[in-house]
Amino acid sequence: MSMRLTNGKEIPIEMHKTRMVQKIVLEPVEQRLKAIGEAGYNTFQLKTKDVFLDMLTDSGVNAMSDNQFAAMMKVDDAYAGSMTFYDFADSVRDILGYKYVMNTHQGRAAEHLISKVFAKKDAVVPTNYHFTTTKVHIELTGESKCLEIYADEALKTTSTHPFKGNMDIQKLKNTIKKNGRENIPFARMEATTNLLGGQPFSMKNLKEVKEVCRENRIPLVLDGSLICENAYLIRQREKGYEDKTVAEIVKEMCSLADIFYMSGRKNTSVRGGCIATNSKKYFEMIQPLLPVYEGFYTYGGMSQREVAAMAVGMREMVDPDVAGCSVEQIKYFVNKLCEIGIPALTPPGGLACHLDAKKFVPQIPQSEYPAGALTAALYIASGIRSMERGTISMERDKDGKDVYADLELCRIALPRRVYSISHIEYAVDRIQWLYKHRELIKGLKFVWEPPVLRFFIGKLEAIDDWGQDLADAFKKEVGDR
Ligand code: F0G
Repeated sequence: MSMRLTNGKEIPIEMHKTRMVQKIVLEPVEQRLKAIGEAGYNTFQLKTKDVFLDMLTDSGVNAMSDNQFAAMMKVDDAYAGSMTFYDFADSVRDILGYKYVMNTHQGRAAEHLISKVFAKKDAVVPTNYHFTTTKVHIELTGESKCLEIYADEALKTTSTHPFKGNMDIQKLKNTIKKNGRENIPFARMEATTNLLGGQPFSMKNLKEVKEVCRENRIPLVLDGSLICENAYLIRQREKGYEDKTVAEIVKEMCSLADIFYMSGRKNTSVRGGCIATNSKKYFEMIQPLLPVYEGFYTYGGMSQREVAAMAVGMREMVDPDVAGCSVEQIKYFVNKLCEIGIPALTPPGGLACHLDAKKFVPQIPQSEYPAGALTAALYIASGIRSMERGTISMERDKDGKDVYADLELCRIALPRRVYSISHIEYAVDRIQWLYKHRELIKGLKFVWEPPVLRFFIGKLEAIDDWGQDLADAFKKEVGDR
Protein backbone atom coordinates (compact mmCIF):
# COMPACT_ATOMS: atom_id res chain seq x y z
CA MET A 1 0.00 0.00 0.00
CA SER A 2 1.05 3.62 0.03
CA MET A 3 1.47 5.70 3.19
CA ARG A 4 0.91 9.43 3.50
CA LEU A 5 3.64 10.98 5.66
CA THR A 6 2.91 13.91 7.97
CA ASN A 7 4.72 16.22 5.52
CA GLY A 8 2.14 15.27 2.87
CA LYS A 9 4.50 13.07 0.85
CA GLU A 10 3.24 9.67 -0.18
CA ILE A 11 5.54 6.65 -0.17
CA PRO A 12 5.01 2.98 -0.94
CA ILE A 13 5.15 1.06 2.32
CA GLU A 14 5.96 -2.61 2.51
CA MET A 15 3.40 -4.57 4.52
CA HIS A 16 5.87 -7.37 5.17
CA LYS A 17 9.28 -7.77 6.74
CA THR A 18 12.37 -9.44 5.38
CA ARG A 19 13.41 -12.60 7.16
CA MET A 20 15.74 -14.15 4.61
CA VAL A 21 18.10 -12.24 2.39
CA GLN A 22 20.48 -12.75 -0.51
CA LYS A 23 23.68 -10.74 -0.79
CA ILE A 24 24.17 -8.65 -3.92
CA VAL A 25 27.31 -6.88 -5.12
CA LEU A 26 27.95 -3.85 -7.28
CA GLU A 27 30.89 -4.50 -9.57
CA PRO A 28 33.00 -1.52 -10.73
CA VAL A 29 32.10 0.09 -14.04
CA GLU A 30 35.08 -1.48 -15.87
CA GLN A 31 33.84 -4.95 -14.96
CA ARG A 32 30.30 -4.00 -16.01
CA LEU A 33 31.59 -2.88 -19.38
CA LYS A 34 33.48 -6.16 -19.80
CA ALA A 35 30.45 -8.18 -18.72
CA ILE A 36 28.02 -6.50 -21.13
CA GLY A 37 30.55 -6.91 -23.97
CA GLU A 38 30.82 -10.63 -23.22
CA ALA A 39 27.02 -10.77 -23.02
CA GLY A 40 26.75 -9.42 -26.57
CA TYR A 41 25.07 -6.26 -25.28
CA ASN A 42 22.12 -8.46 -24.36
CA THR A 43 21.15 -8.27 -20.68
CA PHE A 44 19.62 -11.77 -20.85
CA GLN A 45 23.14 -13.03 -21.35
CA LEU A 46 24.61 -11.46 -18.21
CA LYS A 47 25.59 -13.63 -15.27
CA THR A 48 23.99 -12.53 -12.01
CA LYS A 49 27.38 -12.24 -10.33
CA ASP A 50 27.77 -9.08 -12.42
CA VAL A 51 24.29 -7.75 -11.69
CA PHE A 52 23.55 -5.36 -8.82
CA LEU A 53 19.77 -4.89 -9.06
CA ASP A 54 18.13 -7.59 -11.13
CA MET A 55 15.19 -5.76 -12.67
CA LEU A 56 15.13 -7.83 -15.84
CA THR A 57 11.76 -9.28 -14.99
CA ASP A 58 9.21 -10.01 -12.31
CA SER A 59 8.97 -13.57 -13.56
CA GLY A 60 10.27 -16.30 -11.26
CA VAL A 61 12.07 -13.82 -9.02
CA ASN A 62 9.39 -12.50 -6.66
CA ALA A 63 9.78 -13.09 -2.92
CA MET A 64 7.51 -15.79 -1.58
CA SER A 65 5.78 -15.76 1.79
CA ASP A 66 6.47 -17.85 4.89
CA ASN A 67 3.17 -19.62 4.26
CA GLN A 68 4.25 -20.62 0.78
CA PHE A 69 7.55 -22.02 2.01
CA ALA A 70 5.73 -23.89 4.77
CA ALA A 71 3.32 -25.40 2.24
CA MET A 72 6.24 -26.52 0.08
CA MET A 73 7.51 -28.68 2.95
CA LYS A 74 4.36 -30.74 3.10
CA VAL A 75 3.36 -31.98 -0.31
CA ASP A 76 1.89 -35.10 -1.82
CA ASP A 77 4.46 -36.25 -4.35
CA ALA A 78 2.32 -38.54 -6.45
CA TYR A 79 2.50 -38.96 -10.20
CA ALA A 80 -1.29 -39.09 -10.40
CA GLY A 81 -4.06 -37.85 -8.13
CA SER A 82 -1.84 -35.75 -5.84
CA MET A 83 -3.82 -34.05 -3.09
CA THR A 84 -1.52 -31.03 -3.52
CA PHE A 85 -2.99 -30.58 -6.98
CA TYR A 86 -6.49 -30.76 -5.52
CA ASP A 87 -5.54 -28.06 -2.97
CA PHE A 88 -4.53 -25.95 -5.94
CA ALA A 89 -7.80 -26.72 -7.73
CA ASP A 90 -9.65 -25.56 -4.58
CA SER A 91 -7.73 -22.25 -4.65
CA VAL A 92 -8.60 -21.79 -8.32
CA ARG A 93 -12.28 -22.48 -7.61
CA ASP A 94 -12.36 -20.13 -4.60
CA ILE A 95 -10.29 -17.25 -6.02
CA LEU A 96 -10.86 -17.38 -9.78
CA GLY A 97 -14.21 -19.15 -9.77
CA TYR A 98 -13.34 -21.93 -12.24
CA LYS A 99 -14.38 -25.57 -11.95
CA TYR A 100 -11.76 -27.10 -14.21
CA VAL A 101 -8.04 -26.47 -13.95
CA MET A 102 -4.88 -27.88 -15.48
CA ASN A 103 -1.32 -27.09 -14.49
CA THR A 104 1.26 -26.34 -17.15
CA HIS A 105 4.96 -25.93 -16.52
CA GLN A 106 4.71 -22.19 -17.23
CA GLY A 107 2.60 -19.61 -19.04
CA ARG A 108 3.89 -20.23 -22.54
CA ALA A 109 3.06 -23.92 -22.19
CA ALA A 110 -0.55 -22.88 -21.63
CA GLU A 111 -0.29 -20.71 -24.74
CA HIS A 112 1.07 -23.67 -26.66
CA LEU A 113 -1.85 -25.92 -25.72
CA ILE A 114 -4.52 -23.26 -26.31
CA SER A 115 -3.01 -22.40 -29.70
CA LYS A 116 -2.75 -26.06 -30.62
CA VAL A 117 -6.41 -26.68 -29.82
CA PHE A 118 -8.00 -23.49 -31.10
CA ALA A 119 -5.82 -21.62 -33.55
CA LYS A 120 -5.91 -22.82 -37.14
CA LYS A 121 -4.34 -22.00 -40.47
CA ASP A 122 -5.22 -18.57 -41.85
CA ALA A 123 -7.32 -17.61 -38.83
CA VAL A 124 -6.80 -14.39 -36.86
CA VAL A 125 -6.66 -13.86 -33.11
CA PRO A 126 -7.57 -10.37 -31.90
CA THR A 127 -5.69 -9.30 -28.76
CA ASN A 128 -5.50 -6.08 -26.77
CA TYR A 129 -1.78 -6.54 -27.42
CA HIS A 130 0.44 -9.52 -28.05
CA PHE A 131 3.09 -10.87 -25.72
CA THR A 132 6.25 -12.29 -27.31
CA THR A 133 5.61 -15.94 -26.44
CA THR A 134 1.87 -15.65 -27.15
CA LYS A 135 2.44 -14.36 -30.65
CA VAL A 136 4.97 -17.04 -31.41
CA HIS A 137 2.58 -19.78 -30.28
CA ILE A 138 -0.44 -18.36 -32.09
CA GLU A 139 1.62 -17.93 -35.25
CA LEU A 140 3.97 -20.94 -35.13
CA THR A 141 1.89 -23.55 -33.35
CA GLY A 142 -1.51 -22.41 -34.53
CA GLU A 143 -0.52 -20.89 -37.88
CA SER A 144 -2.95 -18.06 -37.12
CA LYS A 145 -2.22 -14.37 -37.20
CA CYS A 146 -2.13 -12.34 -34.03
CA LEU A 147 -3.88 -8.96 -34.44
CA GLU A 148 -3.39 -6.03 -32.07
CA ILE A 149 -6.71 -4.30 -31.47
CA TYR A 150 -5.54 -1.64 -29.05
CA ALA A 151 -6.98 1.85 -28.75
CA ASP A 152 -4.91 4.65 -30.31
CA GLU A 153 -4.00 6.03 -26.88
CA ALA A 154 -2.07 2.84 -26.13
CA LEU A 155 0.94 3.94 -28.17
CA LYS A 156 1.21 7.34 -26.54
CA THR A 157 4.01 6.96 -24.03
CA THR A 158 3.03 10.15 -22.22
CA SER A 159 -0.59 9.90 -21.22
CA THR A 160 -3.01 10.17 -18.35
CA HIS A 161 -5.38 7.59 -19.79
CA PRO A 162 -6.08 5.17 -16.93
CA PHE A 163 -6.67 2.12 -19.15
CA LYS A 164 -4.27 2.00 -22.07
CA GLY A 165 -4.68 -1.79 -22.10
CA ASN A 166 -8.25 -1.51 -23.39
CA MET A 167 -9.24 -3.25 -26.59
CA ASP A 168 -10.81 -0.94 -29.18
CA ILE A 169 -14.37 -2.22 -29.49
CA GLN A 170 -15.08 -0.71 -32.89
CA LYS A 171 -11.85 -2.17 -34.29
CA LEU A 172 -12.81 -5.54 -32.84
CA LYS A 173 -16.21 -5.40 -34.54
CA ASN A 174 -14.56 -4.40 -37.81
CA THR A 175 -12.08 -7.25 -37.51
CA ILE A 176 -14.88 -9.76 -37.03
CA LYS A 177 -16.79 -8.33 -39.96
CA LYS A 178 -13.75 -8.40 -42.21
CA ASN A 179 -12.51 -11.87 -41.31
CA GLY A 180 -15.78 -13.60 -40.46
CA ARG A 181 -16.37 -14.99 -37.01
CA GLU A 182 -15.62 -18.54 -38.19
CA ASN A 183 -12.04 -17.42 -38.80
CA ILE A 184 -11.58 -16.12 -35.28
CA PRO A 185 -10.84 -19.07 -32.99
CA PHE A 186 -10.68 -16.83 -29.91
CA ALA A 187 -10.09 -13.29 -28.76
CA ARG A 188 -7.48 -12.63 -26.10
CA MET A 189 -7.23 -10.03 -23.37
CA GLU A 190 -3.96 -9.69 -21.46
CA ALA A 191 -4.01 -8.38 -17.89
CA THR A 192 -1.92 -6.21 -17.77
CA THR A 193 -0.52 -5.61 -21.28
CA ASN A 194 3.13 -6.50 -20.91
CA LEU A 195 4.54 -4.92 -24.07
CA LEU A 196 2.44 -1.77 -23.78
CA GLY A 197 4.11 -1.06 -20.46
CA GLY A 198 2.03 -3.11 -18.03
CA GLN A 199 -1.05 -1.01 -18.76
CA PRO A 200 -4.37 -2.31 -17.40
CA PHE A 201 -7.75 -2.58 -19.09
CA SER A 202 -10.98 -1.54 -17.41
CA MET A 203 -13.79 -3.82 -16.35
CA LYS A 204 -16.10 -1.84 -18.60
CA ASN A 205 -13.88 -2.66 -21.55
CA LEU A 206 -13.65 -6.34 -20.64
CA LYS A 207 -17.45 -6.49 -20.42
CA GLU A 208 -17.79 -4.86 -23.83
CA VAL A 209 -15.28 -7.25 -25.38
CA LYS A 210 -17.16 -10.15 -23.82
CA GLU A 211 -20.44 -8.89 -25.23
CA VAL A 212 -19.04 -8.69 -28.75
CA CYS A 213 -17.51 -12.17 -28.37
CA ARG A 214 -20.76 -13.56 -27.01
CA GLU A 215 -22.79 -12.12 -29.88
CA ASN A 216 -20.37 -13.68 -32.35
CA ARG A 217 -19.84 -16.93 -30.44
CA ILE A 218 -16.10 -16.33 -30.15
CA PRO A 219 -14.46 -17.71 -26.99
CA LEU A 220 -12.77 -15.07 -24.86
CA VAL A 221 -9.36 -16.05 -23.48
CA LEU A 222 -7.97 -14.10 -20.55
CA ASP A 223 -4.21 -14.06 -19.93
CA GLY A 224 -4.21 -13.39 -16.19
CA SER A 225 -0.44 -13.39 -15.65
CA LEU A 226 -0.78 -10.05 -13.80
CA ILE A 227 -4.48 -10.20 -13.04
CA CYS A 228 -4.11 -8.87 -9.49
CA GLU A 229 -2.18 -5.79 -10.56
CA ASN A 230 -4.85 -5.13 -13.19
CA ALA A 231 -7.56 -5.59 -10.55
CA TYR A 232 -5.74 -3.31 -8.09
CA LEU A 233 -5.55 -0.60 -10.78
CA ILE A 234 -9.26 -1.04 -11.62
CA ARG A 235 -9.97 -0.47 -7.93
CA GLN A 236 -7.87 2.71 -7.98
CA ARG A 237 -8.96 4.08 -11.36
CA GLU A 238 -12.41 2.85 -12.37
CA LYS A 239 -15.58 4.48 -11.16
CA GLY A 240 -17.81 2.09 -9.28
CA TYR A 241 -14.96 -0.19 -8.21
CA GLU A 242 -13.40 1.89 -5.45
CA ASP A 243 -15.28 -0.01 -2.74
CA LYS A 244 -14.82 -3.48 -4.17
CA THR A 245 -12.04 -5.74 -2.96
CA VAL A 246 -9.26 -6.93 -5.25
CA ALA A 247 -10.66 -10.43 -4.71
CA GLU A 248 -14.11 -9.38 -5.92
CA ILE A 249 -12.66 -7.64 -8.96
CA VAL A 250 -10.53 -10.67 -9.87
CA LYS A 251 -13.57 -12.93 -9.60
CA GLU A 252 -15.60 -10.61 -11.79
CA MET A 253 -12.85 -10.45 -14.43
CA CYS A 254 -12.63 -14.23 -14.49
CA SER A 255 -16.40 -14.61 -14.77
CA LEU A 256 -16.19 -12.87 -18.15
CA ALA A 257 -13.59 -15.20 -19.68
CA ASP A 258 -14.34 -18.54 -21.28
CA ILE A 259 -10.78 -19.73 -20.86
CA PHE A 260 -8.28 -18.36 -18.38
CA TYR A 261 -4.56 -19.01 -18.35
CA MET A 262 -1.63 -17.53 -16.55
CA SER A 263 2.04 -17.68 -15.96
CA GLY A 264 2.31 -18.74 -12.32
CA ARG A 265 5.74 -17.15 -12.14
CA LYS A 266 4.49 -13.63 -11.44
CA ASN A 267 1.24 -13.47 -9.47
CA THR A 268 1.04 -16.72 -7.58
CA SER A 269 4.58 -17.86 -6.89
CA VAL A 270 7.79 -18.27 -8.80
CA ARG A 271 7.07 -21.27 -11.02
CA GLY A 272 4.36 -22.82 -13.09
CA GLY A 273 1.26 -21.92 -14.96
CA CYS A 274 -2.29 -23.07 -15.46
CA ILE A 275 -5.34 -23.12 -17.70
CA ALA A 276 -8.78 -22.90 -16.11
CA THR A 277 -12.34 -22.82 -17.40
CA ASN A 278 -15.94 -23.51 -16.48
CA SER A 279 -16.61 -25.13 -19.84
CA LYS A 280 -16.52 -28.92 -19.77
CA LYS A 281 -16.25 -28.83 -23.55
CA TYR A 282 -13.11 -26.66 -23.60
CA PHE A 283 -11.61 -28.60 -20.72
CA GLU A 284 -12.09 -31.87 -22.58
CA MET A 285 -10.53 -30.39 -25.71
CA ILE A 286 -7.37 -29.29 -23.89
CA GLN A 287 -6.89 -31.92 -21.19
CA PRO A 288 -5.85 -34.80 -23.52
CA LEU A 289 -2.86 -32.76 -24.71
CA LEU A 290 -1.47 -32.36 -21.20
CA PRO A 291 0.12 -35.81 -20.89
CA VAL A 292 1.59 -35.38 -24.38
CA TYR A 293 3.35 -32.08 -23.77
CA GLU A 294 3.40 -31.30 -20.05
CA GLY A 295 2.90 -34.37 -17.88
CA PHE A 296 -0.02 -36.01 -16.14
CA TYR A 297 -2.78 -33.50 -15.49
CA THR A 298 -2.29 -33.48 -11.72
CA TYR A 299 1.20 -32.04 -12.07
CA GLY A 300 1.45 -30.61 -15.59
CA GLY A 301 5.22 -30.44 -15.69
CA MET A 302 5.55 -28.88 -12.25
CA SER A 303 6.96 -30.34 -9.05
CA GLN A 304 4.34 -30.68 -6.34
CA ARG A 305 6.34 -28.23 -4.23
CA GLU A 306 5.70 -25.64 -6.91
CA VAL A 307 2.04 -26.58 -7.15
CA ALA A 308 1.77 -26.11 -3.37
CA ALA A 309 3.40 -22.67 -3.57
CA MET A 310 0.95 -21.72 -6.31
CA ALA A 311 -2.01 -22.96 -4.28
CA VAL A 312 -1.11 -20.70 -1.35
CA GLY A 313 0.07 -17.86 -3.61
CA MET A 314 -3.25 -17.85 -5.44
CA ARG A 315 -5.08 -17.13 -2.18
CA GLU A 316 -2.51 -14.53 -1.09
CA MET A 317 -2.35 -12.65 -4.40
CA VAL A 318 -5.72 -10.98 -3.90
CA ASP A 319 -4.60 -9.41 -0.62
CA PRO A 320 -4.29 -5.70 -1.58
CA ASP A 321 -0.93 -5.52 0.21
CA VAL A 322 0.34 -8.19 -2.15
CA ALA A 323 -1.50 -7.08 -5.30
CA GLY A 324 -0.47 -3.46 -4.78
CA CYS A 325 3.13 -3.93 -3.65
CA SER A 326 4.79 -3.55 -7.06
CA VAL A 327 2.13 -1.13 -8.34
CA GLU A 328 2.90 1.37 -5.58
CA GLN A 329 6.66 1.04 -6.07
CA ILE A 330 6.28 1.53 -9.82
CA LYS A 331 4.20 4.65 -9.25
CA TYR A 332 6.86 6.07 -6.93
CA PHE A 333 9.63 5.24 -9.41
CA VAL A 334 7.83 6.67 -12.47
CA ASN A 335 6.72 9.83 -10.67
CA LYS A 336 10.28 10.50 -9.47
CA LEU A 337 11.60 10.18 -13.02
CA CYS A 338 8.87 12.42 -14.44
CA GLU A 339 9.59 15.08 -11.81
CA ILE A 340 13.15 15.39 -13.10
CA GLY A 341 12.15 15.36 -16.77
CA ILE A 342 13.12 11.80 -17.71
CA PRO A 343 10.90 10.26 -20.41
CA ALA A 344 9.27 7.43 -18.47
CA LEU A 345 6.09 5.82 -19.75
CA THR A 346 2.93 7.18 -18.12
CA PRO A 347 0.67 6.56 -16.43
CA PRO A 348 2.54 4.05 -14.24
CA GLY A 349 1.34 0.50 -14.88
CA GLY A 350 1.43 -2.81 -13.08
CA LEU A 351 4.63 -4.43 -14.25
CA ALA A 352 7.64 -2.16 -14.38
CA CYS A 353 8.99 1.32 -14.84
CA HIS A 354 9.60 1.84 -18.57
CA LEU A 355 11.92 4.35 -20.19
CA ASP A 356 10.81 5.58 -23.60
CA ALA A 357 13.93 4.99 -25.68
CA LYS A 358 12.61 6.92 -28.68
CA LYS A 359 12.65 10.02 -26.49
CA PHE A 360 15.65 9.14 -24.33
CA VAL A 361 18.02 8.39 -27.23
CA PRO A 362 16.31 9.97 -30.26
CA GLN A 363 19.61 9.93 -32.16
CA ILE A 364 19.39 6.13 -32.54
CA PRO A 365 17.22 4.93 -35.45
CA GLN A 366 15.01 1.88 -34.92
CA SER A 367 17.29 -0.07 -37.26
CA GLU A 368 19.98 0.29 -34.58
CA TYR A 369 17.77 -0.76 -31.67
CA PRO A 370 17.40 2.26 -29.36
CA ALA A 371 15.73 0.28 -26.56
CA GLY A 372 18.45 -2.36 -26.64
CA ALA A 373 21.16 0.28 -26.54
CA LEU A 374 19.50 2.09 -23.63
CA THR A 375 19.09 -1.16 -21.73
CA ALA A 376 22.81 -1.94 -22.14
CA ALA A 377 23.76 1.65 -21.26
CA LEU A 378 21.71 1.53 -18.07
CA TYR A 379 23.58 -1.59 -17.04
CA ILE A 380 26.96 0.03 -17.68
CA ALA A 381 25.96 3.13 -15.70
CA SER A 382 24.38 1.34 -12.75
CA GLY A 383 24.74 -2.43 -12.67
CA ILE A 384 20.95 -2.55 -13.02
CA ARG A 385 19.73 -5.26 -15.35
CA SER A 386 16.62 -4.21 -17.27
CA MET A 387 15.07 -5.68 -20.43
CA GLU A 388 14.76 -4.49 -24.02
CA ARG A 389 11.13 -4.30 -25.11
CA GLY A 390 11.36 -2.92 -28.60
CA THR A 391 12.48 -4.02 -32.05
CA ILE A 392 14.92 -6.64 -30.78
CA SER A 393 11.90 -8.31 -29.11
CA MET A 394 10.14 -8.54 -32.49
CA GLU A 395 10.48 -11.34 -35.01
CA ARG A 396 11.83 -10.60 -38.49
CA ASP A 397 9.36 -10.76 -41.40
CA LYS A 398 9.36 -13.51 -44.07
CA ASP A 399 12.02 -11.65 -46.05
CA GLY A 400 14.31 -11.42 -43.05
CA LYS A 401 13.70 -7.72 -42.52
CA ASP A 402 13.36 -6.15 -39.10
CA VAL A 403 9.81 -5.33 -38.04
CA TYR A 404 9.99 -2.12 -36.07
CA ALA A 405 8.23 -2.27 -32.71
CA ASP A 406 5.40 0.16 -31.95
CA LEU A 407 7.19 1.16 -28.78
CA GLU A 408 10.88 1.17 -27.92
CA LEU A 409 11.00 0.56 -24.19
CA CYS A 410 13.66 -0.18 -21.64
CA ARG A 411 11.70 -2.14 -19.04
CA ILE A 412 12.89 -1.90 -15.45
CA ALA A 413 10.81 -4.50 -13.66
CA LEU A 414 10.09 -4.44 -9.97
CA PRO A 415 9.91 -8.00 -8.73
CA ARG A 416 7.38 -8.17 -5.95
CA ARG A 417 8.61 -7.69 -2.36
CA VAL A 418 12.28 -7.78 -3.42
CA TYR A 419 13.64 -4.23 -3.65
CA SER A 420 13.32 -1.18 -1.40
CA ILE A 421 12.89 2.56 -1.88
CA SER A 422 16.63 3.11 -1.55
CA HIS A 423 17.18 0.79 -4.50
CA ILE A 424 14.67 2.85 -6.48
CA GLU A 425 16.36 6.10 -5.41
CA TYR A 426 19.69 4.70 -6.62
CA ALA A 427 18.11 3.72 -9.95
CA VAL A 428 16.60 7.20 -10.39
CA ASP A 429 19.96 8.83 -9.70
CA ARG A 430 21.88 6.70 -12.20
CA ILE A 431 19.15 7.09 -14.84
CA GLN A 432 19.43 10.86 -14.38
CA TRP A 433 23.18 10.68 -14.87
CA LEU A 434 22.67 8.59 -17.97
CA TYR A 435 20.10 11.03 -19.34
CA LYS A 436 22.62 13.86 -18.99
CA HIS A 437 25.09 11.79 -21.02
CA ARG A 438 22.60 10.32 -23.46
CA GLU A 439 24.45 11.68 -26.48
CA LEU A 440 27.24 9.17 -25.76
CA ILE A 441 24.88 6.27 -26.41
CA LYS A 442 24.84 4.97 -29.97
CA GLY A 443 23.16 2.00 -31.60
CA LEU A 444 23.72 -1.75 -31.65
CA LYS A 445 24.09 -4.27 -34.43
CA PHE A 446 23.46 -7.99 -34.41
CA VAL A 447 26.47 -10.25 -34.75
CA TRP A 448 24.43 -13.42 -34.31
CA GLU A 449 20.76 -14.20 -33.93
CA PRO A 450 18.64 -17.33 -33.61
CA PRO A 451 15.64 -17.90 -35.91
CA VAL A 452 13.03 -17.20 -33.25
CA LEU A 453 12.72 -15.12 -30.03
CA ARG A 454 16.12 -13.60 -30.75
CA PHE A 455 16.00 -11.27 -27.77
CA PHE A 456 16.78 -14.17 -25.44
CA ILE A 457 20.07 -15.37 -26.88
CA GLY A 458 21.00 -13.06 -29.74
CA LYS A 459 24.42 -11.35 -29.63
CA LEU A 460 25.02 -7.73 -30.56
CA GLU A 461 27.84 -5.21 -30.46
CA ALA A 462 28.05 -1.49 -29.77
CA ILE A 463 28.47 0.67 -32.87
CA ASP A 464 31.76 2.66 -32.58
CA ASP A 465 32.45 1.02 -29.20
CA TRP A 466 30.28 3.60 -27.40
CA GLY A 467 30.18 1.46 -24.25
CA GLN A 468 33.81 2.38 -23.59
CA ASP A 469 33.06 6.12 -23.97
CA LEU A 470 30.17 5.84 -21.55
CA ALA A 471 32.22 3.89 -19.00
CA ASP A 472 35.07 6.45 -19.27
CA ALA A 473 32.69 9.35 -18.65
CA PHE A 474 31.18 7.53 -15.68
CA LYS A 475 34.60 6.79 -14.17
CA LYS A 476 35.67 10.39 -14.56
CA GLU A 477 32.54 11.92 -13.03
CA VAL A 478 31.17 9.34 -10.64
CA GLY A 479 34.04 6.94 -9.93
CA ASP A 480 34.30 3.17 -10.06
CA ARG A 481 30.81 2.61 -8.72
N1 F0G B 1 1.76 -13.87 -20.77
C1 F0G B 1 2.24 -12.75 -20.22
C2 F0G B 1 1.38 -11.54 -20.15
C3 F0G B 1 3.54 -12.72 -19.72
O1 F0G B 1 4.01 -11.60 -19.18
C4 F0G B 1 4.35 -13.88 -19.80
C5 F0G B 1 5.72 -13.87 -19.33
C6 F0G B 1 3.80 -15.02 -20.39
C7 F0G B 1 2.50 -14.98 -20.87
C8 F0G B 1 4.59 -16.27 -20.54
O2 F0G B 1 4.70 -16.91 -19.30
O3 F0G B 1 7.16 -16.89 -18.83
O4 F0G B 1 5.60 -18.33 -17.53
O5 F0G B 1 6.10 -18.87 -19.89
N2 F0G B 1 6.39 -12.86 -19.07
C9 F0G B 1 7.75 -12.83 -18.58
C10 F0G B 1 8.26 -11.41 -18.51
C11 F0G B 1 8.69 -13.73 -19.28
O6 F0G B 1 9.45 -11.23 -18.21
O7 F0G B 1 7.50 -10.47 -18.70
P1 F0G B 1 5.97 -17.78 -18.87
